[in-house]
Amino acid sequence: MSKVVLSYSGGLDTTVCIPLLREKYGFDEVVTVTVDIGQPEKDVKEAEERGKKYSDKHYTIDAKKEFVDALFTLIKANGDYEGYVLGTSIARPIIAKKTAEIAIEEKADAIAHGCTGKGNDQLRFENIFMQYGFKVIAPMRELNLTREWEIDYARKKGIEIKVSKEKPWSIDENLWSRSIEGGKLEDPSFPPLEEIFEWTVSPEKAPDQPEVIKIDFERGIPVALNDERMKGYELIRKLNEVGGKHGVGRTDMMEDRVLGLKARENYEHPAATILLTAHIDLERLILSRRELKFKKFVEEEWAELVYYGLTNDPLYDALNVFIDKTQERVTGWVKVKLFKGSAIPIARFSEYALYSEELTSFDTTTIDQRLAEGYSAFHGLQGRLYREIMKRKD
Ligand code: ARG
Repeated sequence: MSKVVLSYSGGLDTTVCIPLLREKYGFDEVVTVTVDIGQPEKDVKEAEERGKKYSDKHYTIDAKKEFVDALFTLIKANGDYEGYVLGTSIARPIIAKKTAEIAIEEKADAIAHGCTGKGNDQLRFENIFMQYGFKVIAPMRELNLTREWEIDYARKKGIEIKVSKEKPWSIDENLWSRSIEGGKLEDPSFPPLEEIFEWTVSPEKAPDQPEVIKIDFERGIPVALNDERMKGYELIRKLNEVGGKHGVGRTDMMEDRVLGLKARENYEHPAATILLTAHIDLERLILSRRELKFKKFVEEEWAELVYYGLTNDPLYDALNVFIDKTQERVTGWVKVKLFKGSAIPIARFSEYALYSEELTSFDTTTIDQRLAEGYSAFHGLQGRLYREIMKRKD
């Protein structure tokens, strides 16, 4: 008896994989695994129903808590790859780990996924599957299938199809972001249609009145919204709602995939935009100039590891130790104004602020300004010497 565990979303690609794994790869048993990372509940339910219907055994695993913990790490690192908030990227290793754990339990011979050979997800999944010692099967990549063929094959196998010709988008959704690719969007000169968005209204249609919200952070992690303490999952959900209402968090961008292919991506991520904006603002009040400068460099490395699906690299752990050290003081609050697509910090407070009104104010005499004279005498000394030498040489 040979058995394969399939990472299962319920969509066309992964559903077509089920009969393919039996017929083309000769597996006796196909077990499907769907991991809940805060995608819409109806998607999880539907994947469960389809998994039960078409595979031999189905598992639905709740990883929302683990995913929120990963998002907290992301917030502390101001997670951003080329302007993308890394929603899909940071979810993949968690999905892969949960799937591998089921494969161990099921004593499976291999793990399969439905990723193509052109994207990043194949790399992120397989890195983790191999870490657990599994042989990897990627039918979409290995069999070089076209959508037409898949639809035809699905019909023959009695699989219900939900993709329509008019809405051919490839969508990936979780608590942090919603990504929309494919169809006409593959032409970068084609502006996104309003119909691709589900979490956000268009900024033009957002309310004419701004809304100010307050977010409390403790050690770099958001803990309260408008003075009401809440768990991360609930807080992010609420911010997606309120931010979406104001048209906050749309991104239309060109992205450099790991393989070197450029891709046109559309995303929506209201909570991510609000939380990252607020967190960056609070850090600027608290961290030293040198911490901020060095952390930017660390963040760049951090984001690349996450985008590449290399969070099992020892460097990832080391960077997080540095980041956590800086976050020990990132406690305080930020007020953010939401208005027609923008999220702008307008007030902030922390007991750890390095800012001192007493020292900086135009209206105080705590600092004897004459002391700056000596500093100023040396400031730019080498530049002035250089200019003088060059003038003499002319
Ligand atoms: N470009 C993003 C990433 O690589 C999102 C990919 C979304 N995947 C999808 N199957 N639609 O993380």
